[in-house]
Amino acid sequence: MPSVLIKTYGCQMNERDTEQVASMFLAGGYELTKDEDTADIILINTCSVREKAELKAQGKMGLLCARPHAKPWVVYGFMGCMSQSCGQDLFRIIPRLDIVTGTRQYHNVYQLCNRLLRSRLGNPPTEPLRRGAHICHTEHEDGFQNAIRDHLPPSGHCTAFVSIMQGCDMRCSYCIVPSTRGEECSRPMDDILREARELVDRGVKEITLLGQIVNRYGKEQPLINGRSAFVRLLEQLSDIDGLERLRFTSPHPIGFREDLVRAYTYLPKLCSHIHFPMQSGSDRILALMRRPYKNEKYIRLCEAMREARPDLAITTDIIVGFPGETDDDYQQTKAAVERIQFDNAFIFQYSPRRDTIAAAMPDQICLRVKEERNHDLLETVNRIATARNNALVGTLQHILVESLSKNNPNRLQGRTSQNKPVMIPAGSAAIGSIVPVRITESTGFTLYGEPA
Ligand code: SAH
Ligand code: SF4
Ligand code: F3S
Repeated sequence: MPSVLIKTYGCQMNERDTEQVASMFLAGGYELTKDEDTADIILINTCSVREKAELKAQGKMGLLCARPHAKPWVVYGFMGCMSQSCGQDLFRIIPRLDIVTGTRQYHNVYQLCNRLLRSRLGNPPTEPLRRGAHICHTEHEDGFQNAIRDHLPPSGHCTAFVSIMQGCDMRCSYCIVPSTRGEECSRPMDDILREARELVDRGVKEITLLGQIVNRYGKEQPLINGRSAFVRLLEQLSDIDGLERLRFTSPHPIGFREDLVRAYTYLPKLCSHIHFPMQSGSDRILALMRRPYKNEKYIRLCEAMREARPDLAITTDIIVGFPGETDDDYQQTKAAVERIQFDNAFIFQYSPRRDTIAAAMPDQICLRVKEERNHDLLETVNRIATARNNALVGTLQHILVESLSKNNPNRLQGRTSQNKPVMIPAGSAAIGSIVPVRITESTGFTLYGEPA
């Protein structure tokens, strides 16, 4: 049986896309492998959001292609955002590379790879071995959003991602995503509901809806009874029997209205966690970033959501070292972090991206200052996150038991509604079940507990 190895970098959208590609290989009679030495096809799903992510994928593929491989016919391919953004250039950087497919070609990856592998395995092969085939597909297809296929989550998984939209029409000045993921387009609601029901039939208990600005889902549709298409989608998904938990990521303050805040009061399946990117606490920097809100509006939304759902955990993304960021701007970000008391935050050092407005801005911040701000903010974020987790010791939390712990086979791991990881003794609950757990210990980031 031929085998395929797929490595994934980047965001949850890439993880979901990898699952879709993997399920097409499985349906075609391939097996999935983690073994670089025996795989017949090696694919990397790539991210472009920061330079580091691109260099990592190129470095990894460069090493893989340079090594002698037991199977001279092995097919090497890049998929995803960096492929979309760099296209043919990748063959110049890594000549042995065979296939490059963009973000609107995931449904064609299996066929392209399978065809190339078969032609190399023929006797005699009709395609040269050990030399890049240089097949590049990054074109956009109309109606692509309807080709987002259902996908099998890896077997035994009780959680799944569901893409509800593609692309992004915002033009945040630092961001490459609009050019890698194209225009915003939403999937038909019926398709999403059907996919969700199928996932639940296969044992999925928790679904995370994905979109670059997930709350802009179906934004061209009119409000019905004051509710947006996104809120109506949440309501309909909530009605699916057997689906226990609903999450979404990432929301954006634009189009985040009262109806979505209110949803936290009447949709109990909606989890008590929101990942809500703030980016900066300085209005001057937000304007330079072309983020269409002021810090005060962002904070008001956080407060309104906490009022609607008092135990809501809020996490965020923050960029430090954006061009022109003064120490005063940075201190405003730090003050906002203290004020909001995030449960956690991803802090990113600004990375200039090709063809973005911010990359050409004056006053680029030097690496040393970016690193200083990063470390300083991380201390604040970690202190607050630790205190918030420690405060959960002694409380009763419901956790969805997801799997055996990766580091300790005597433990099971699950997550609370607030998305906090919790370890419980192995054998104390069934994978896929939701159990009440008394939290007994916190290490700051991981919680430990006993089923109650
Ligand atoms: N669509 C989401 C963000 C997707 S990108 C949203 O708007 O909320 C994920 C995160 O990467 C962003 O929130 C941002 O914090 C970070 N990011 C994006 N471009 C970046 C860049 N050029 N340098 C550093 N971080 C960046
Ligand atoms: Fe990038 Fe902004 Fe779109 Fe998010 S909203 S993907 S940060 S352009
Ligand atoms: Fe990266 Fe593409 Fe996601 S650039 S963050 S993998 S949308």
